[in-house]
Amino acid sequence: MSTSTRKPFPKTGTDWPSLDATMTEMSIGDVAWRDGRAPLYVFHGSDAAYEVGRAAFMKYFSENALGGRRAFFGLKRMEDEVVEMGLDLFQAPTGAVGNMTTGGSESIFMAVKACRDWARATGKLKEPFNIVAPYSAHAAFNKAADVMDLKVRRLPTGQGYRADVDAMAAAMDDSTIMLVGSAPCFPHGVIDPIQQLSDLALAHNTWLHVDACVGGYVAPFFQRIGRDIPDYDFALPGVRSLSADLHKFGFCPKPASNLFYRYEEDRERGLFHFDEWPNGQFSTATLSGTRAGGAVAAAWAVMHHLGEDGYMAIARQLADLTDAYVAGIEAIEGLYLLAKPDLSIINFAADGVDIFTVAEGMEARGWLPGLTRNPKGMHAMLSMFHETGMEDYLADLAASVTAARGAGSSGLKAVY
Ligand SMILES: Cc1ncc(COP(=O)(O)O)c(C=O)c1O
Repeated sequence: MSTSTRKPFPKTGTDWPSLDATMTEMSIGDVAWRDGRAPLYVFHGSDAAYEVGRAAFMKYFSENALGGRRAFFGLKRMEDEVVEMGLDLFQAPTGAVGNMTTGGSESIFMAVKACRDWARATGKLKEPFNIVAPYSAHAAFNKAADVMDLKVRRLPTGQGYRADVDAMAAAMDDSTIMLVGSAPCFPHGVIDPIQQLSDLALAHNTWLHVDACVGGYVAPFFQRIGRDIPDYDFALPGVRSLSADLHKFGFCPKPASNLFYRYEEDRERGLFHFDEWPNGQFSTATLSGTRAGGAVAAAWAVMHHLGEDGYMAIARQLADLTDAYVAGIEAIEGLYLLAKPDLSIINFAADGVDIFTVAEGMEARGWLPGLTRNPKGMHAMLSMFHETGMEDYLADLAASVTAARGAGSSGLKAVY
Protein backbone atom coordinates (compact mmCIF):
# COMPACT_ATOMS: atom_id res chain seq x y z
CA MET A 1 0.00 0.00 0.00
CA SER A 2 1.41 3.42 -0.89
CA THR A 3 1.86 5.88 1.96
CA SER A 4 -0.48 8.40 0.31
CA THR A 5 -3.47 6.05 0.70
CA ARG A 6 -2.48 4.65 4.08
CA LYS A 7 -4.90 5.37 6.90
CA PRO A 8 -3.09 7.55 9.43
CA PHE A 9 -3.02 6.58 13.11
CA PRO A 10 -5.72 8.73 14.78
CA LYS A 11 -4.30 11.83 16.48
CA THR A 12 -7.14 12.17 18.95
CA GLY A 13 -9.67 9.81 20.50
CA THR A 14 -13.29 9.39 19.41
CA ASP A 15 -16.30 8.61 21.59
CA TRP A 16 -18.25 5.38 21.26
CA PRO A 17 -21.45 6.79 19.69
CA SER A 18 -19.42 8.22 16.80
CA LEU A 19 -17.43 5.02 16.41
CA ASP A 20 -20.61 2.98 16.52
CA ALA A 21 -22.12 5.07 13.76
CA THR A 22 -18.98 4.87 11.61
CA MET A 23 -18.73 1.11 12.01
CA THR A 24 -22.37 0.66 11.04
CA GLU A 25 -21.74 2.78 7.96
CA MET A 26 -18.64 0.75 7.09
CA SER A 27 -20.74 -2.42 7.02
CA ILE A 28 -23.60 -1.05 4.92
CA GLY A 29 -22.52 -3.08 1.89
CA ASP A 30 -22.31 -6.37 3.81
CA VAL A 31 -24.32 -9.38 2.74
CA ALA A 32 -27.66 -9.42 4.57
CA TRP A 33 -26.64 -12.51 6.53
CA ARG A 34 -29.35 -12.13 9.17
CA ASP A 35 -31.87 -12.61 6.35
CA GLY A 36 -30.22 -15.82 5.24
CA ARG A 37 -28.34 -14.35 2.29
CA ALA A 38 -24.99 -15.88 3.35
CA PRO A 39 -24.71 -19.65 2.82
CA LEU A 40 -21.68 -19.97 5.12
CA TYR A 41 -19.75 -18.16 7.89
CA VAL A 42 -22.75 -17.62 10.23
CA PHE A 43 -25.08 -20.01 12.08
CA HIS A 44 -28.27 -19.58 14.04
CA GLY A 45 -30.18 -21.93 16.30
CA SER A 46 -32.69 -19.77 18.15
CA ASP A 47 -32.97 -16.11 19.15
CA ALA A 48 -32.89 -17.09 22.83
CA ALA A 49 -29.70 -19.15 22.44
CA TYR A 50 -28.12 -16.25 20.55
CA GLU A 51 -28.93 -13.86 23.40
CA VAL A 52 -27.68 -16.29 26.08
CA GLY A 53 -24.44 -16.77 24.15
CA ARG A 54 -23.95 -13.05 23.78
CA ALA A 55 -24.68 -12.29 27.46
CA ALA A 56 -22.35 -15.04 28.70
CA PHE A 57 -19.63 -13.92 26.29
CA MET A 58 -19.84 -10.34 27.52
CA LYS A 59 -19.86 -11.46 31.18
CA TYR A 60 -16.42 -13.02 30.64
CA PHE A 61 -15.32 -10.56 27.98
CA SER A 62 -11.98 -9.68 29.63
CA GLU A 63 -11.01 -13.00 31.17
CA ASN A 64 -8.39 -15.08 29.44
CA ALA A 65 -8.94 -18.83 29.25
CA LEU A 66 -5.16 -19.26 29.17
CA GLY A 67 -5.22 -18.33 32.86
CA GLY A 68 -7.96 -20.78 33.78
CA ARG A 69 -5.72 -22.93 35.95
CA ARG A 70 -4.13 -20.10 37.93
CA ALA A 71 -6.64 -17.26 38.02
CA PHE A 72 -10.05 -17.86 36.46
CA PHE A 73 -11.29 -20.95 38.26
CA GLY A 74 -14.88 -20.50 37.16
CA LEU A 75 -13.82 -20.47 33.52
CA LYS A 76 -11.62 -23.52 34.05
CA ARG A 77 -14.57 -25.38 35.50
CA MET A 78 -16.78 -24.30 32.60
CA GLU A 79 -14.17 -25.44 30.08
CA ASP A 80 -13.83 -28.82 31.81
CA GLU A 81 -17.60 -29.20 31.84
CA VAL A 82 -17.95 -28.26 28.16
CA VAL A 83 -15.42 -30.98 27.36
CA GLU A 84 -17.17 -33.53 29.58
CA MET A 85 -20.56 -32.76 28.04
CA GLY A 86 -19.00 -33.24 24.59
CA LEU A 87 -17.41 -36.54 25.61
CA ASP A 88 -20.81 -37.67 26.86
CA LEU A 89 -22.53 -36.63 23.62
CA PHE A 90 -19.93 -38.39 21.44
CA GLN A 91 -20.07 -41.61 23.49
CA ALA A 92 -16.45 -41.47 24.55
CA PRO A 93 -15.26 -44.26 26.84
CA THR A 94 -14.01 -43.65 30.38
CA GLY A 95 -10.54 -42.18 30.24
CA ALA A 96 -11.20 -40.14 27.10
CA VAL A 97 -10.22 -36.49 27.35
CA GLY A 98 -10.36 -33.28 25.37
CA ASN A 99 -10.02 -29.55 25.35
CA MET A 100 -11.45 -26.43 23.81
CA THR A 101 -9.76 -24.72 20.90
CA THR A 102 -10.53 -21.61 18.90
CA GLY A 103 -11.94 -23.41 15.87
CA GLY A 104 -12.02 -26.37 13.57
CA SER A 105 -8.68 -25.62 11.94
CA GLU A 106 -6.97 -25.46 15.32
CA SER A 107 -8.64 -28.68 16.52
CA ILE A 108 -7.46 -30.43 13.35
CA PHE A 109 -3.99 -28.96 13.70
CA MET A 110 -3.66 -30.25 17.27
CA ALA A 111 -4.97 -33.71 16.33
CA VAL A 112 -2.41 -33.94 13.53
CA LYS A 113 0.38 -32.81 15.86
CA ALA A 114 -0.58 -35.39 18.49
CA CYS A 115 -0.76 -38.05 15.78
CA ARG A 116 2.62 -37.10 14.32
CA ASP A 117 4.25 -37.30 17.75
CA TRP A 118 2.60 -40.69 18.38
CA ALA A 119 3.90 -41.91 15.00
CA ARG A 120 7.42 -40.78 15.87
CA ALA A 121 7.19 -42.45 19.27
CA THR A 122 6.21 -45.82 17.76
CA GLY A 123 9.47 -45.82 15.77
CA LYS A 124 7.78 -48.10 13.24
CA LEU A 125 6.60 -45.60 10.68
CA LYS A 126 8.86 -44.03 8.07
CA GLU A 127 9.22 -40.30 7.62
CA PRO A 128 8.12 -38.31 5.66
CA PHE A 129 4.73 -39.24 7.06
CA ASN A 130 1.48 -39.02 5.16
CA ILE A 131 -2.21 -38.59 5.93
CA VAL A 132 -4.76 -40.47 3.82
CA ALA A 133 -8.00 -38.56 3.32
CA PRO A 134 -10.92 -38.30 0.92
CA TYR A 135 -10.84 -35.45 -1.63
CA SER A 136 -13.73 -33.89 0.33
CA ALA A 137 -11.78 -33.49 3.59
CA HIS A 138 -11.36 -29.95 4.84
CA ALA A 139 -8.39 -27.86 3.67
CA ALA A 140 -7.27 -27.57 7.31
CA PHE A 141 -5.58 -30.99 7.04
CA ASN A 142 -3.31 -29.61 4.32
CA LYS A 143 -2.66 -26.51 6.37
CA ALA A 144 -1.53 -28.65 9.31
CA ALA A 145 0.49 -30.91 7.01
CA ASP A 146 2.14 -27.92 5.39
CA VAL A 147 3.34 -26.58 8.75
CA MET A 148 4.52 -29.99 9.96
CA ASP A 149 6.12 -31.17 6.70
CA LEU A 150 3.65 -34.01 6.19
CA LYS A 151 1.93 -35.07 2.97
CA VAL A 152 -1.81 -35.44 2.44
CA ARG A 153 -2.95 -38.09 -0.04
CA ARG A 154 -6.43 -37.10 -1.17
CA LEU A 155 -8.37 -39.91 -2.81
CA PRO A 156 -11.39 -39.44 -5.07
CA THR A 157 -14.65 -39.97 -3.20
CA GLY A 158 -16.84 -42.97 -3.96
CA GLN A 159 -20.58 -43.44 -4.06
CA GLY A 160 -22.65 -40.45 -3.00
CA TYR A 161 -19.48 -38.38 -2.56
CA ARG A 162 -18.57 -40.36 0.56
CA ALA A 163 -15.01 -41.50 1.25
CA ASP A 164 -13.96 -44.48 -0.86
CA VAL A 165 -12.55 -46.71 1.86
CA ASP A 166 -11.03 -49.23 -0.55
CA ALA A 167 -9.18 -46.48 -2.39
CA MET A 168 -7.97 -45.10 0.93
CA ALA A 169 -6.80 -48.56 2.04
CA ALA A 170 -4.89 -48.96 -1.22
CA ALA A 171 -3.18 -45.59 -0.72
CA MET A 172 -1.82 -46.47 2.73
CA ASP A 173 1.81 -47.45 3.21
CA ASP A 174 4.34 -47.65 6.04
CA SER A 175 4.46 -43.85 6.22
CA THR A 176 0.71 -43.41 6.75
CA ILE A 177 0.04 -42.03 10.20
CA MET A 178 -3.56 -40.90 9.94
CA LEU A 179 -6.82 -41.72 8.21
CA VAL A 180 -9.43 -38.98 7.96
CA GLY A 181 -13.19 -39.25 7.75
CA SER A 182 -15.65 -36.35 7.92
CA ALA A 183 -18.99 -36.30 9.70
CA PRO A 184 -20.14 -34.63 7.57
CA CYS A 185 -17.77 -33.24 4.94
CA PHE A 186 -18.12 -29.56 4.17
CA PRO A 187 -18.53 -29.74 0.37
CA HIS A 188 -21.39 -32.24 0.08
CA GLY A 189 -22.81 -32.49 3.60
CA VAL A 190 -22.56 -36.28 3.76
CA ILE A 191 -21.08 -38.45 6.49
CA ASP A 192 -18.22 -40.70 5.39
CA PRO A 193 -18.40 -44.46 6.13
CA ILE A 194 -16.75 -44.06 9.52
CA GLN A 195 -17.58 -47.63 10.58
CA GLN A 196 -15.47 -48.98 7.70
CA LEU A 197 -12.73 -46.45 8.33
CA SER A 198 -12.72 -47.50 11.97
CA ASP A 199 -12.24 -51.15 10.93
CA LEU A 200 -9.45 -50.13 8.57
CA ALA A 201 -7.70 -48.08 11.26
CA LEU A 202 -7.87 -50.95 13.75
CA ALA A 203 -6.60 -53.46 11.19
CA HIS A 204 -3.53 -51.29 10.51
CA ASN A 205 -3.12 -49.79 13.97
CA THR A 206 -3.49 -46.38 12.35
CA TRP A 207 -4.92 -43.23 13.87
CA LEU A 208 -8.43 -42.35 12.64
CA HIS A 209 -9.45 -38.74 13.08
CA VAL A 210 -13.14 -37.96 12.62
CA ASP A 211 -13.65 -34.39 11.49
CA ALA A 212 -17.08 -33.60 12.90
CA CYS A 213 -16.26 -29.89 12.96
CA VAL A 214 -19.14 -28.67 10.89
CA GLY A 215 -22.04 -30.86 11.93
CA GLY A 216 -20.81 -32.83 14.91
CA TYR A 217 -22.76 -30.94 17.51
CA VAL A 218 -26.11 -31.29 15.75
CA ALA A 219 -25.78 -34.80 14.27
CA PRO A 220 -26.57 -36.61 17.56
CA PHE A 221 -29.83 -34.68 17.76
CA PHE A 222 -30.74 -35.50 14.15
CA GLN A 223 -30.23 -39.11 15.25
CA ARG A 224 -32.48 -38.62 18.27
CA ILE A 225 -35.33 -37.16 16.22
CA GLY A 226 -35.27 -40.28 14.08
CA ARG A 227 -33.16 -39.22 11.10
CA ASP A 228 -30.98 -41.90 9.62
CA ILE A 229 -27.51 -40.80 10.69
CA PRO A 230 -24.71 -43.37 10.40
CA ASP A 231 -22.44 -43.89 13.41
CA TYR A 232 -19.41 -41.68 13.46
CA ASP A 233 -18.30 -41.13 17.04
CA PHE A 234 -16.31 -42.89 19.79
CA ALA A 235 -18.82 -45.76 19.87
CA LEU A 236 -16.73 -47.00 16.93
CA PRO A 237 -13.54 -48.40 18.48
CA GLY A 238 -11.16 -47.22 15.75
CA VAL A 239 -12.02 -43.54 16.26
CA ARG A 240 -9.00 -42.14 18.05
CA SER A 241 -9.71 -38.41 17.95
CA LEU A 242 -12.69 -36.29 16.97
CA SER A 243 -13.09 -32.57 16.35
CA ALA A 244 -16.44 -30.80 16.70
CA ASP A 245 -17.07 -27.07 16.48
CA LEU A 246 -19.29 -25.37 19.00
CA HIS A 247 -19.30 -22.19 16.91
CA LYS A 248 -21.03 -23.83 13.96
CA PHE A 249 -23.99 -26.17 14.53
CA GLY A 250 -23.45 -26.05 18.33
CA PHE A 251 -24.90 -22.51 17.95
CA CYS A 252 -22.31 -20.99 20.29
CA PRO A 253 -20.42 -17.74 19.66
CA LYS A 254 -17.06 -17.84 17.89
CA PRO A 255 -14.31 -18.84 18.56
CA ALA A 256 -15.09 -22.26 20.04
CA SER A 257 -14.35 -25.84 19.05
CA ASN A 258 -13.54 -29.08 20.81
CA LEU A 259 -10.89 -31.68 20.19
CA PHE A 260 -11.44 -35.03 21.89
CA TYR A 261 -8.97 -37.89 22.32
CA ARG A 262 -9.81 -41.49 23.14
CA TYR A 263 -6.60 -41.82 25.18
CA GLU A 264 -5.20 -39.44 27.76
CA GLU A 265 -1.66 -40.00 26.47
CA ASP A 266 -2.67 -38.65 23.08
CA ARG A 267 -3.67 -35.35 24.60
CA GLU A 268 -0.25 -35.28 26.24
CA ARG A 269 1.20 -35.61 22.74
CA GLY A 270 -0.87 -32.66 21.61
CA LEU A 271 0.43 -30.45 24.41
CA PHE A 272 3.25 -28.01 23.96
CA HIS A 273 5.61 -27.65 26.93
CA PHE A 274 8.47 -25.21 27.14
CA ASP A 275 10.66 -24.15 30.02
CA GLU A 276 13.78 -22.52 28.64
CA TRP A 277 12.90 -18.86 28.88
CA PRO A 278 12.65 -16.32 31.70
CA ASN A 279 9.04 -16.98 32.68
CA GLY A 280 9.27 -20.68 33.42
CA GLN A 281 6.92 -23.52 32.58
CA PHE A 282 4.68 -22.76 29.59
CA SER A 283 2.15 -25.43 28.60
CA THR A 284 -0.76 -25.19 26.19
CA ALA A 285 -3.11 -27.64 24.52
CA THR A 286 -3.73 -25.19 21.68
CA LEU A 287 -1.78 -23.30 19.08
CA SER A 288 -3.02 -20.07 20.61
CA GLY A 289 -1.85 -18.81 23.96
CA THR A 290 -4.41 -16.23 24.98
CA ARG A 291 -7.96 -17.48 24.40
CA ALA A 292 -11.22 -15.56 24.74
CA GLY A 293 -12.75 -16.36 28.12
CA GLY A 294 -16.06 -15.21 26.67
CA ALA A 295 -16.10 -18.06 24.16
CA VAL A 296 -15.66 -20.67 26.89
CA ALA A 297 -18.36 -19.13 29.09
CA ALA A 298 -20.73 -18.71 26.15
CA ALA A 299 -20.34 -22.35 25.06
CA TRP A 300 -21.05 -23.52 28.60
CA ALA A 301 -24.10 -21.27 28.84
CA VAL A 302 -25.57 -22.13 25.42
CA MET A 303 -25.17 -25.87 26.01
CA HIS A 304 -26.98 -25.56 29.34
CA HIS A 305 -29.58 -23.18 27.94
CA LEU A 306 -30.54 -25.50 25.10
CA GLY A 307 -29.97 -28.89 26.69
CA GLU A 308 -30.86 -32.05 24.83
CA ASP A 309 -34.48 -31.02 24.29
CA GLY A 310 -33.47 -27.58 22.97
CA TYR A 311 -30.98 -29.04 20.50
CA MET A 312 -33.57 -31.62 19.45
CA ALA A 313 -36.14 -28.89 18.82
CA ILE A 314 -33.65 -27.03 16.61
CA ALA A 315 -32.69 -30.29 14.85
CA ARG A 316 -36.38 -30.85 14.04
CA GLN A 317 -36.73 -27.37 12.59
CA LEU A 318 -33.50 -27.70 10.64
CA ALA A 319 -34.42 -31.10 9.25
CA ASP A 320 -37.80 -29.76 8.08
CA LEU A 321 -36.20 -26.64 6.66
CA THR A 322 -33.66 -28.71 4.74
CA ASP A 323 -36.40 -30.94 3.34
CA ALA A 324 -38.29 -27.85 2.21
CA TYR A 325 -35.21 -26.37 0.50
CA VAL A 326 -34.44 -29.69 -1.18
CA ALA A 327 -38.02 -30.03 -2.42
CA GLY A 328 -37.99 -26.44 -3.66
CA ILE A 329 -34.69 -26.87 -5.50
CA GLU A 330 -35.72 -30.17 -7.06
CA ALA A 331 -38.93 -28.56 -8.26
CA ILE A 332 -36.89 -26.18 -10.44
CA GLU A 333 -36.37 -27.79 -13.83
CA GLY A 334 -32.74 -28.71 -14.43
CA LEU A 335 -31.59 -28.57 -10.82
CA TYR A 336 -30.72 -31.67 -8.82
CA LEU A 337 -29.03 -32.46 -5.51
CA LEU A 338 -25.52 -33.86 -5.90
CA ALA A 339 -25.92 -35.79 -2.66
CA LYS A 340 -28.76 -36.46 -0.28
CA PRO A 341 -27.86 -34.29 2.72
CA ASP A 342 -27.32 -36.14 6.00
CA LEU A 343 -27.82 -32.91 7.96
CA SER A 344 -28.52 -29.41 6.67
CA ILE A 345 -25.68 -28.84 4.21
CA ILE A 346 -26.88 -28.87 0.61
CA ASN A 347 -24.95 -29.12 -2.65
CA PHE A 348 -26.79 -29.02 -5.95
CA ALA A 349 -25.97 -28.91 -9.64
CA ALA A 350 -27.72 -28.22 -12.94
CA ASP A 351 -28.41 -29.95 -16.22
CA GLY A 352 -28.54 -27.86 -19.38
CA VAL A 353 -27.28 -24.63 -17.77
CA ASP A 354 -24.02 -23.61 -16.17
CA ILE A 355 -24.65 -23.63 -12.42
CA PHE A 356 -22.04 -20.89 -12.00
CA THR A 357 -24.08 -18.68 -14.35
CA VAL A 358 -27.04 -19.42 -12.08
CA ALA A 359 -24.83 -18.45 -9.12
CA GLU A 360 -23.99 -15.17 -10.85
CA GLY A 361 -27.71 -14.55 -11.21
CA MET A 362 -28.16 -15.17 -7.49
CA GLU A 363 -25.32 -12.80 -6.71
CA ALA A 364 -26.94 -10.10 -8.82
CA ARG A 365 -30.13 -10.68 -6.82
CA GLY A 366 -28.32 -10.10 -3.50
CA TRP A 367 -27.42 -13.65 -2.45
CA LEU A 368 -23.85 -14.63 -1.68
CA PRO A 369 -23.47 -17.85 -3.66
CA GLY A 370 -21.66 -20.80 -2.10
CA LEU A 371 -19.91 -22.86 -4.76
CA THR A 372 -18.25 -26.22 -5.21
CA ARG A 373 -15.79 -26.55 -8.05
CA ASN A 374 -15.43 -30.26 -8.64
CA PRO A 375 -18.20 -31.25 -9.20
CA LYS A 376 -19.55 -27.85 -10.19
CA GLY A 377 -22.38 -26.97 -7.88
CA MET A 378 -23.96 -24.52 -5.48
CA HIS A 379 -23.55 -25.03 -1.77
CA ALA A 380 -25.26 -23.84 1.41
CA MET A 381 -25.09 -24.60 5.11
CA LEU A 382 -28.65 -24.05 6.23
CA SER A 383 -29.32 -22.80 9.72
CA MET A 384 -32.31 -20.99 11.15
CA PHE A 385 -31.17 -17.74 9.49
CA HIS A 386 -32.38 -19.38 6.28
CA GLU A 387 -35.98 -19.84 7.35
CA THR A 388 -37.51 -16.47 6.52
CA GLY A 389 -35.74 -15.98 3.19
CA MET A 390 -36.56 -19.40 1.76
CA GLU A 391 -39.38 -18.38 -0.57
CA ASP A 392 -37.40 -15.46 -1.98
CA TYR A 393 -34.35 -17.69 -2.39
CA LEU A 394 -36.26 -20.30 -4.35
CA ALA A 395 -38.02 -17.71 -6.50
CA ASP A 396 -34.71 -16.01 -7.30
CA LEU A 397 -33.11 -19.37 -7.98
CA ALA A 398 -35.84 -20.27 -10.48
CA ALA A 399 -35.45 -16.87 -12.15
CA SER A 400 -31.67 -17.27 -12.26
CA VAL A 401 -31.97 -20.70 -13.89
CA THR A 402 -34.35 -19.32 -16.53
CA ALA A 403 -32.00 -16.39 -17.22
CA ALA A 404 -29.00 -18.73 -17.40
CA ARG A 405 -30.51 -20.82 -20.20
CA GLY A 406 -28.58 -20.07 -23.36
CA ALA A 407 -26.42 -17.54 -21.53
CA GLY A 408 -23.19 -19.53 -21.83
CA SER A 409 -20.77 -20.33 -19.08
CA SER A 410 -19.57 -18.15 -16.27
CA GLY A 411 -16.07 -17.15 -15.27
CA LEU A 412 -17.00 -17.25 -11.58
CA LYS A 413 -14.42 -18.89 -9.34
CA ALA A 414 -15.26 -21.06 -6.34
CA VAL A 415 -13.91 -19.27 -3.27
CA TYR A 416 -14.36 -20.57 0.29
C1 LIG B 1 -15.61 -30.23 7.99
C2 LIG B 1 -14.86 -29.01 8.46
N1 LIG B 1 -13.69 -29.14 9.11
C3 LIG B 1 -12.99 -28.08 9.54
C4 LIG B 1 -13.44 -26.79 9.35
C5 LIG B 1 -12.60 -25.62 9.79
O1 LIG B 1 -13.23 -24.90 10.81
P1 LIG B 1 -12.80 -23.41 11.19
O2 LIG B 1 -13.24 -22.54 10.06
O3 LIG B 1 -13.55 -23.16 12.46
O4 LIG B 1 -11.35 -23.37 11.38
C6 LIG B 1 -14.66 -26.60 8.67
C7 LIG B 1 -15.18 -25.27 8.41
O5 LIG B 1 -16.23 -25.08 7.84
C8 LIG B 1 -15.40 -27.73 8.22
O6 LIG B 1 -16.54 -27.62 7.54
